[in-house]
Amino acid sequence: MVTINENYLKLKAGYLFPEIARRVSTFAAAHPDADLIKLGIGDVTEPLPEACRTAMIKAVDDMGDRATFHGYGPEQGYAWLREKIAQQDFQARGCDITADEIFISDGSKCDCGNILDIFGHDNTIAVTDPVYPVYVDTNVMAGHTGDASEDGKYEGLVYLPISAENNFTAEIPKQKVDLIYLCFPNNPTGATATRAHLESWVAYAQEHGSLILFDAAYEAFITDPTMPHSIYEVPGARDCAIEFRSFSKNAGFTGTRCAFTVMPKTLKVKASDGSAVDLHRLWNRRQATKFNGVSYIIQRGAEAVYSEAGQSQIQALIRFYLENARIIREQLSAAGITTYGGVNAPYVWVKTPHGLSSWDFFDKLLHTCNVVGTPGSGFGAAGEGYLRISAFNSRENVEQAMTRITANFQG
Ligand code: MLT
Repeated sequence: MVTINENYLKLKAGYLFPEIARRVSTFAAAHPDADLIKLGIGDVTEPLPEACRTAMIKAVDDMGDRATFHGYGPEQGYAWLREKIAQQDFQARGCDITADEIFISDGSKCDCGNILDIFGHDNTIAVTDPVYPVYVDTNVMAGHTGDASEDGKYEGLVYLPISAENNFTAEIPKQKVDLIYLCFPNNPTGATATRAHLESWVAYAQEHGSLILFDAAYEAFITDPTMPHSIYEVPGARDCAIEFRSFSKNAGFTGTRCAFTVMPKTLKVKASDGSAVDLHRLWNRRQATKFNGVSYIIQRGAEAVYSEAGQSQIQALIRFYLENARIIREQLSAAGITTYGGVNAPYVWVKTPHGLSSWDFFDKLLHTCNVVGTPGSGFGAAGEGYLRISAFNSRENVEQAMTRITANFQG
């Protein structure tokens, strides 16, 4: 008899975004004339930067000539891309990260899930509440949790509440945890971490022998010069943190797929016999076995992000989306609705008006305004009473959505 991974049966309903898509398509089927504006999933809308497109077109031509054709690439990514990342994203910020510590991949969502392959099943795992659901669901799939309770919390995980009271940054836990997921700028709340906050996490990890899984997919949206972009800006982090980065949100690669994980060679964990094991070696082994790399064409496109033209084009994209976020924040605030985030992040975390539940507000927005958001409760129990609005859309759609919302809802 075929058996299954029964951990999947513990998962609550659908993954959040497909569940939203299901509700939206049911609505759209019943209301075919509705002019829907989607500010739910954080998917970019603006075209790929010209520098990236030009590089990709040139790479397609390379593939058409035997002399410049590329078959399988290195599973870790091409050296020319890894070097640019190491220099411009890390060394230029004073982070001691080298090219051979960068692993190119097809997405940081994928890497955040895949990373669990190299860890054991007995780790104590901490996540914030609310949290990007991938961290939780992949641990459920891997059998690292018990069942979910009524409010959607899984037995065995340590939940660190984040709220307006703690500026959406978790208190450092009193107990020892082994793996800690942190995401800054934060998805879903749009909060950012000060250097001091990251320093306290690194100090905690050093004291307890813990490992930080640092998701920095939105770092490009940081405009405040005092905020760290990478955990490796904190001394000591290369001994206790793995960082996930992406080209999805800064360069519009959500459909093109390119990201990377930074796995410092100094990360060591003890095996059950007490011997020190190098995580870089395990991750390299995992990738070389289960992954064949990102296509040459796409990596050439990602490389162009680091050219002078690429840098100025991605800065323009980021300014564009941050301006959308400003419009969302200011218009909702003017209507008396409380918002958080959206300053150094593309997400605005909105307190639902009149104490509506997250899904009730979601449904009302969909039916009354034909606007799609993401219910805060989908990110965890502590997200109840909030809705996330994404700034990834055209200016016209964002303005139109705000006009509709503020005409129908006042705080
Ligand atoms: C989101 O909306 O939270 C993002 O699209 C998630 C992701 O990038 O996977």
